[in-house]
Amino acid sequence: MEKKKLVFAADHAGFRLKDFLADHFRSEGFDVTDLGTDSEQSCDYPVFAEKLADYILDGKAELGILCCGTGIGMSMAANKVPGIRAAACSDTFSAKYTRLHNDANVLCLGARVVGEGLAAELAEIFVSTGFEGGKHARRVGLISDIEKRKGKKK
Ligand code: RB5
Repeated sequence: MEKKKLVFAADHAGFRLKDFLADHFRSEGFDVTDLGTDSEQSCDYPVFAEKLADYILDGKAELGILCCGTGIGMSMAANKVPGIRAAACSDTFSAKYTRLHNDANVLCLGARVVGEGLAAELAEIFVSTGFEGGKHARRVGLISDIEKRKGKKK
């Protein structure tokens, strides 16, 4: 089975976790792209969230993983991009169901919240779980409708 294309990005707080996860999936044979950052030098998480969102919307990767201190700032920024459904998760149930029910295409992890072991488990679940479709597809469609309506008002 062909492995999914994955894209990773982080700010300074998340870069070590991002590197760890990118290596983890590379060693499993996934096609991994790393959009940075690559040091602990302070940087702005929305810049990396937008880069990763664009990469996915350009069709260059199927799923993305963003790491910052909490996972929350990254999810807020990524969710401003129409077509991105980003979920900040720190438990395995949420990581599974945000794929099954929300068709999330970006997982956001907090390097100050979860350790490497749990982060790898969350990411594995996220990447290996598919969207259930059916009534959930209609609901995800309603999210897209909100994006269209609000986009027009600007
Ligand atoms: C950086 O200190 C921190 O604010 C950032 O990584 C993130 O947690 C924001 O949500």
